[in-house]
Amino acid sequence: MLGRVVVSRDEIASMVSRLAVEIEADIAGRAPVFIGVLKGCVFFMTDLVRQIAKPIEMDFVQVSSYGASTTSSGSVVLVKDITVDVRDRDVYLVEDIVDTGTTLTDVVRLIDARHPRSVKVVSLLSKPSRRQVEVEIAFLGTEIDDLFVVGYGLDHAERYRNVPDIHVLQPS
Ligand code: IMP
Repeated sequence: MLGRVVVSRDEIASMVSRLAVEIEADIAGRAPVFIGVLKGCVFFMTDLVRQIAKPIEMDFVQVSSYGASTTSSGSVVLVKDITVDVRDRDVYLVEDIVDTGTTLTDVVRLIDARHPRSVKVVSLLSKPSRRQVEVEIAFLGTEIDDLFVVGYGLDHAERYRNVPDIHVLQPS
């Protein structure tokens, strides 16, 4: 069940606005591609891009883990690939949360293989104490403690994604 609020909807809204300003300033003359990592990114991605008043393209990628027993780097399976050609494009990769860093490492590798001009990671949340693989997050909402959180796109067994605030998941 839902526990205490870790990041409120108001805090989320101000983080998204700040990130949009930072990213907009970072966008050079060219139109970048925003690639969201499904499904957790959905609300963050759509809230973020609507505050960026520059021409951009959007696409999505979905990966799934092989399971808890094989969580080392290289363990993710591609469920849905991008369809936009990112060769020589500036890519902003939009994630909900970076935990151990393995998912992001694999997704960056996947995008890099298509020869983009640049890839920068945007993540709403990060749990630095859980990191196993170092990843560079160019634009971060906020760091959180080692808690399992749900809401604003983040799920537990596909539930709670539609909850407007981010809560800690309480064992019931
Ligand atoms: P990583 O590969 O360990 O960095 O895990 C990243 C993915 O695990 C995220 O994209 C989420 O789908 C999921 N995840 C990690 N921590 C949480 C959490 O606290 N709540 C919900 N999902 C999480």
